Amino acid sequence: MTGTELELSGLALDELFAALDDPALNSMNLLNEIANRYPDAVSLAAGRPCEDTFELAALDRYLQRFCRYLREELGYPEEQVRRTLFQYGRTKGIMHEVIAANLAQDEGITVDPDAIVVTVGCQEAMYLVLRALRRDPADVLLAVAPTYVGLTGAAKLVDLPVLPVRAGTAGVDLDDLAGQLRRARAAGLRPRACYLMPDFANPSGITMDLDSRRQLLALARSENLLLLEDNPYGLFPVELAHRLPTLKALDDAHTVIYLGSFAKTALPGARVGYLIADQPVRDPAGGSSLLADQLSKLKSMLTVNTSPISQAIVAGKMLEHGGSLIAATAADRAVYAANLRLMLDGLAARFPDPAAGISFNAPGGSFFVVVTVPFVVDDALLERSAAGYGVLWTPMHHFYAAGSAVNSLRLSCSVVTPAQIELGLDRLAELIHDRLKGA
Ligand SMILES: Cc1ncc(COP(=O)(O)O)c(C=O)c1O
Repeated sequence: MTGTELELSGLALDELFAALDDPALNSMNLLNEIANRYPDAVSLAAGRPCEDTFELAALDRYLQRFCRYLREELGYPEEQVRRTLFQYGRTKGIMHEVIAANLAQDEGITVDPDAIVVTVGCQEAMYLVLRALRRDPADVLLAVAPTYVGLTGAAKLVDLPVLPVRAGTAGVDLDDLAGQLRRARAAGLRPRACYLMPDFANPSGITMDLDSRRQLLALARSENLLLLEDNPYGLFPVELAHRLPTLKALDDAHTVIYLGSFAKTALPGARVGYLIADQPVRDPAGGSSLLADQLSKLKSMLTVNTSPISQAIVAGKMLEHGGSLIAATAADRAVYAANLRLMLDGLAARFPDPAAGISFNAPGGSFFVVVTVPFVVDDALLERSAAGYGVLWTPMHHFYAAGSAVNSLRLSCSVVTPAQIELGLDRLAELIHDRLKGA
């Protein structure tokens, strides 16, 4: 038999899962691909955490710290410590009690550790929740726009259409949310939940004020609507004293499913995240379980369990800092705050006149700033920026429905030096001025 006879006739994209043909699933790849072609460009695009605190020796130290916790705090004999690290493990995870203690300490969230599912990054948590909520074709998800692309992609994977809700100035426009709900229900659709990021949203940078948080919870409760609260950046305010309680900390009616990530607070290489799903689920026989246990069934068929070695490293980092991620992230927080100040001052110096039509927001923390310009910002402009000016950023249209014409771009200051911020902003200003002159 020749090689040719062994080959398939070829696979057609239009015969594979329809989402594979959807631009939403390709947007991260596309942006990475442009970045990879211009390795010398200054990247104000990457939302990765700062690498100053990456220390190889710490990985072993964290692992050993978690083993000590298993021995001394949980009373495990040596054989069980070894088995916990080496074997397949509990589907919902092995660091749930460390997470519950951390949430009580850092966030004022009281949660039964059994309501926590440790996941392979927050990305798996989003997928599990959306998969469970999506029952039939009438189901839809509401999401504050602009929306994190990972959420839009996960919704595509489970065939769940996403209806955008305006962010407004408060992080979510409650009138628009109520209107979307009413219109969707009148059209026979079943809104299953609303996804949002109350703290330093990616990409908008907006943080909801306390009053809006309370009003949103009241609206969600009266409308019987679940809220999906995603909070990867909440520990990175410029001023710690300005932190606000999460929706989950204010939730006394199981309205909020909380999505957590350790990518920015511990290390993304571990790929560990989690969710809190303390909602009771009725079954037809009259019994009841936690939503977390239903999600655990899905996880058992997707990733089986989150790597115990990764969990041990992340939990060990927390334990090394007395269980506090606020303490564990002090050095990173200082870098992000200094970089954000530099970026905002740098933008103010380069674009001093708002009448010129160029504006930018001023988030109170985290990684992202949105710059608005008087022309459409598309991927062709990014390509021109990378090739001709040596600077990368993220076109905001990637965070809206496909085909939207959007006049803004996202800058990130998390994984660049002060000199790179200055150089990147010089290059961006040159691009914008040339584009305005029609050059
Ligand atoms: C808003 C938001 N949610 C979730 C994630 C994904 O987190 P993880 O790396 O834990 O999957 C990110 C990562 O950038 C994010 O920005």
